[in-house]
Amino acid sequence: MAQITVTTGRIVGQVDRRIFGGFIENEGRAIDGGVYEPESRFADEAGVRIDTRDAIAGLSMPVMRWPGGNFVSAYHWVDGVGPKDARPNRWDPAWGAVERNQFGTDEFMTYCRDLDTEPYLCFNMGTGTLDEAMAWLEYCNGTEDTAWANLRRQHGRDEPYGVKYWGLGNEMWGDFQIGHLTAEEYAAKAKRWALALKRVDPTIQLVACGRDGLHADWDAIVVEALVKYVDWYSMHIYTGSDDHWSNVLQVHQVDRALEYAGALIAGARYRQGVEHPVHITYDEWNTWFATRNDRRRGELVQERHTLSDALAVATYLNIFVRRSDVVKMANIAQVVNVLAPIVTGPDGVLKQAIYHPFAIAAAHTQELAVDAYVDCPRYEHTEEHNDRWEHRVGDLGPFPVLDVAATRSEDGTRLVVSVVNRDPDSEHRVSVVLSDATFAGDVTIRTVSGPHPLATNEWDSPDVVGVSEAGLEGAGQTLEIVVGACTYTQIDAAIGV
Ligand code: AHR
Repeated sequence: MAQITVTTGRIVGQVDRRIFGGFIENEGRAIDGGVYEPESRFADEAGVRIDTRDAIAGLSMPVMRWPGGNFVSAYHWVDGVGPKDARPNRWDPAWGAVERNQFGTDEFMTYCRDLDTEPYLCFNMGTGTLDEAMAWLEYCNGTEDTAWANLRRQHGRDEPYGVKYWGLGNEMWGDFQIGHLTAEEYAAKAKRWALALKRVDPTIQLVACGRDGLHADWDAIVVEALVKYVDWYSMHIYTGSDDHWSNVLQVHQVDRALEYAGALIAGARYRQGVEHPVHITYDEWNTWFATRNDRRRGELVQERHTLSDALAVATYLNIFVRRSDVVKMANIAQVVNVLAPIVTGPDGVLKQAIYHPFAIAAAHTQELAVDAYVDCPRYEHTEEHNDRWEHRVGDLGPFPVLDVAATRSEDGTRLVVSVVNRDPDSEHRVSVVLSDATFAGDVTIRTVSGPHPLATNEWDSPDVVGVSEAGLEGAGQTLEIVVGACTYTQIDAAIGV
């Protein structure tokens, strides 16, 4: 039998709810046809699809990043404000499509307000200028009688939006990025921008554009140069495979990346005497690149997510919880249609497999991450398989087949244990042992499951991968449950001392 030993008094981090953030980009059908579709019978008078927005609300996202992504590196925000019939069509060189600019800054802000989520905007550091960036910041946050603040007022928004999070570019390290830069060029430019932008609004928090924590040629240079001037360091990761074990185990790359990037940041802060915190935001992460992926231009990356992907997503979230000492924000990429938990169609929305673990974790994860030690079989994936991911030693194990994270409430009355059973063949009997507390009454067990690892939800069978809920009575220090093959199980229990 597997054993999970939880020590509720050993706190490993304060969980920041911003790890359940999202990202939407003007790409494919994410915005046009996803979030915004005036022709849809589900649209309100502003053209916003209410069914999509309701489905996003079910993910309880505290922060939403927009407008890109690669798109932002040629985006001029001015094109997306003012009367809609006067907004220009522009060629989007990132994704090879026409951008109609019908969903811009004001529409995004209204969307965030209605979802009760905080906006996180990203500057165009590709074709954009510093002047344009400062103007956007002033348009959003300006309180004085200035032309940019007045333009916002003219567009019907008297109160400033007070946007707190601003990204200094997107993936500027890649030659696929419009206007990409070397690490040294980026560091110098981002520093100049940061100093100027904080003159416009000193209350903003700036996000440096990182890579993945593992590329010394970018991460080390950029962290060292910018740690004084920014509040966040962003990293991106996409993993994925049609091979189940590879798909779920690749996610552990995050642990290694966090170790490296966390150390880079800690070292740079120490050497330079930087007192303010610089947290990591995984502001793009998800499963992608599977061979089932449809990457045709125009119908971009409308990934069909499997049960295996749902377990990968649950593992990502467990890692963010376990590493909540350094990760204070994460944004699943993306939220609608593109690589997304939510897919839209003429008859409504479809919740893909990955929707369910995200929704459950976002709704029930508690405030404090606590120590959870799992004793169970370990697995190393050595079989040949067809992947797009280049593996190094240790990338695919050995890792415990059960991935576990535990959180408890500040007042110590509630414990939530997330168990991802990546084993496609066997259920496991699990004994959850509390070393310093007892189960004290109601226990809710939520389970995400499906018939096999590659199961997907489709329009004519939307609940193949779904959620079930059961209740138990807990008492004493031990609770025994069985986690089925290929399942995500959340144990949500009342506890006492
Ligand atoms: O989310 C899709 C794309 O992946 C984003 O535009 C880019 O930042 C990343 O490479």
